[in-house]
Amino acid sequence: MGTLTFPELPPGFHFGAATAAYQIEGAHDEDGRGPSIWDTFSRTPGRTLGGANGDTACDHYHRYPEDIALLRELGVDGYRFSISWPRLLPQGTGPVNPKGLDFYDRLIDELLAAGIAPAATLYHWDLPQTLEDRGGWRVRETAEAFAEYANVAADRYGDRVERWITLNEPFCSAFVGYAEGRHAPGAREGRGALAAAHHLLVGHGLAVRELRVAGAREVGITLNLDRLHAASDRPEDLAALRRAEVLHNEVWTEPLFAGRYPEHEAETWEGLADGPWRRPGDLQLIGVPLDFVGINFYRPTTVEAAPHRADDPGLRTAMDIGVAEPNPYGTRLTTMGWPVVPSAFTELLCDLDTRYPQLPPVWITENGSAEADSVTPDGQVHDEERIDYLASHLAAVADAIAAGVDVRGYYVWSLLDNFEWARGYEQRFGLVRVDYDTLTRIPKDSYHWYRGLITAHRART
Ligand code: NOJ
Repeated sequence: MGTLTFPELPPGFHFGAATAAYQIEGAHDEDGRGPSIWDTFSRTPGRTLGGANGDTACDHYHRYPEDIALLRELGVDGYRFSISWPRLLPQGTGPVNPKGLDFYDRLIDELLAAGIAPAATLYHWDLPQTLEDRGGWRVRETAEAFAEYANVAADRYGDRVERWITLNEPFCSAFVGYAEGRHAPGAREGRGALAAAHHLLVGHGLAVRELRVAGAREVGITLNLDRLHAASDRPEDLAALRRAEVLHNEVWTEPLFAGRYPEHEAETWEGLADGPWRRPGDLQLIGVPLDFVGINFYRPTTVEAAPHRADDPGLRTAMDIGVAEPNPYGTRLTTMGWPVVPSAFTELLCDLDTRYPQLPPVWITENGSAEADSVTPDGQVHDEERIDYLASHLAAVADAIAAGVDVRGYYVWSLLDNFEWARGYEQRFGLVRVDYDTLTRIPKDSYHWYRGLITAHRART
């Protein structure tokens, strides 16, 4: 672990680590928390690997002082966590749960006492089940309920949270949750999920309003934009790429940063593009200026035209978009099966910057890799692949900055191994290993490497 492997970031660059409530907290029915769609979904047979759920997860709800000590020792500038909506408002709207409010008070105060800047995500996928029962993100009322929740959170924590993220990866909430059904609530409604996408954006706009009124410092949204390539120059592959660009990226970036709906949306959504869920004034609401955009990046994707298969509920399939196999990049795959291509990260950031003159400063709100970690007889985890992944992706961020993109900071996904949604606990993304039998935490080599990088950065800048 020589310092030679440390990528160099500019002075003032902010280093952090990230997690999300349902993936780490556990304590699913304690202190008045209501059920979320992930409690329901993970209890439905066949939905998650081995029937895994977040009942206990990393037990962070009880062990947060130990986790904050790990963050302090790591030396990070900031910590990105998410607030659990059903802990604050167990029924989604209406009565506020004082014990839920207290938990995040303690968390935020201890972070500040440790000199760590809190970055809070309001929605990292844990919709209160009662709201799903009333239609979930299919209906506009959920966006209004989200504004009510944002108001409660901003009122209580607005004086102490440095950075607010309204939504995490709305692509997954809308399309993986309501079109493909691989995530909660498990709906397989294909193109109809465009309504959910729109209501998420409306919810974002309404939440920004609440945060501004409460005097929140920095407000933004986190997107998992995709760096997409076409498998070939065949016209049908290029057309598939165009549809995929709308589906993955432009649905979000066009209304957020250009005040319009995507140019090629009709060919992607067919008759649904201009659905009845759109109301006059929505574009103004959604496109309200932000202080930053959060980008989560893991891997690029190559798409091709693929014939529709009636037996496949996948949304991409319904749009005749296939993901090219085998991995055309010829690089290593992480245990998620994701190709490691750091140059795609630089390209994505540069392309976004060029495309949108109104783009606010960028924060990398997630980046990291799941690897086949093991504890060796010395009691350590020698995760060289993860170090290599992080080093090469931070170097890719440095390249984007050198090319003129205003990237301010970076949060590793993740501080801890945790509940990787439908993939359960087998995928390990942490800088810190969690033994799920004993809940013991073991800092991996990548943790020590990241601490070294931060120390070297401070000494150099
Ligand atoms: C995106 C999500 O925000 C996070 O919850 C997930 O664990 C990571 N990516 C890895 O898949």
